[in-house]
Amino acid sequence: MRRSVVIGTGSALPRTVVSNAELAARVDTTDEWIVERTGIRQRHIAEADETTGSLATEAARAAIAAAGVQAKDVDLIVLATATPDQTFPATATIVQHNLGCHGGIAFDVAAVCSGFLYAVGVADSMLRTGMAQRALVIGAETFSRILDWEDRTTCVLFGDGAGAILLEAQDQAGDSPRGILATKLHADGNHNQLLYVDGGASTTGTVGKLRMKGREVFRHAVVNLADVLHEVLAETGLQTSDIDWLVPHQANARILDATARKLNLPPEKVVITVDRHANTSAASVPLALDTAVRDGRIKPGQLVMLEAMGGGFTWGASLVRM
Ligand code: COA
Repeated sequence: MRRSVVIGTGSALPRTVVSNAELAARVDTTDEWIVERTGIRQRHIAEADETTGSLATEAARAAIAAAGVQAKDVDLIVLATATPDQTFPATATIVQHNLGCHGGIAFDVAAVCSGFLYAVGVADSMLRTGMAQRALVIGAETFSRILDWEDRTTCVLFGDGAGAILLEAQDQAGDSPRGILATKLHADGNHNQLLYVDGGASTTGTVGKLRMKGREVFRHAVVNLADVLHEVLAETGLQTSDIDWLVPHQANARILDATARKLNLPPEKVVITVDRHANTSAASVPLALDTAVRDGRIKPGQLVMLEAMGGGFTWGASLVRM
């Protein structure tokens, strides 16, 4: 059976780290409040010369190097972002140019914090139907550019970064095939005003700032994520106990704990980077995945569940054998 197999991962973070204490000097907050409510201790913030496209390129290069292939071997780039370099062209085409891999397919996907899961779903479908052979799936964001730095309820929660995986279409046989085993995606536009940006090309003509009703987002996140994780398990016929690692969207340590509890998954199987990276939106899942691959926790053959929920609302999960 033709499957999309992860042959490399990579990530990139801006140079500058901003601690909670540094934020507390700018807005009315404290390190204690942020750590207790979110688990976040620091975040990376892009300087002027660091963009979504440059971070995405760095993450993509690392994934290509880890896979031991060449940029010209990539014939599909799907980049998930809510903070593109420009309104158009797609940031994926900027990455394609930077990498020097011309002639394939390149486009962006907009599903905010679930963007990487949506991009995985799209790329997997295109690989399995033969439209491409090797796909870079990237999540990259510079949310610092759309934060209201006077609003303490949102500006403390987010950071910048990028993560990437390289997928290759391979024929996989046997009882434990490698690759993406199942992906489930959802959206419920009824909640599109609970987490949004108050600007846009066709409305205000400005980029706008992020606005969020945090408590309501929290409530929906725990329910939606537990449901979609069960849906993916049901599709594959696997159990929670089969999962080696949960790599969740890193929004808030309390959402991660609540989701793991609802799944009956021991906390030591959950990859957590929110303390160091904060919420990097579409970048958070591939950044956390690459972190755990590179530090040796996630090993070839292991079952990894990816999940995310974001503005829209959108949410999804994907089960992958590495
Ligand atoms: N520092 C200090 N106090 C803060 C603060 C900050 N950075 N942000 C908010 N507060 C205050 C509020 O003003 C409020 O004060 P009040 O009671 O005097 O009105 C108090 O803390 C409690 O605020 P509340 O919003 O009820 O806190 P919470 O426990 O719900 O935590 C979030 C807030 C944002 C951390 C939490 O709702 C959350 O994580 N939501 C999900 C957000 C998310 O993950 N979004 C991304 C999804 S992709």
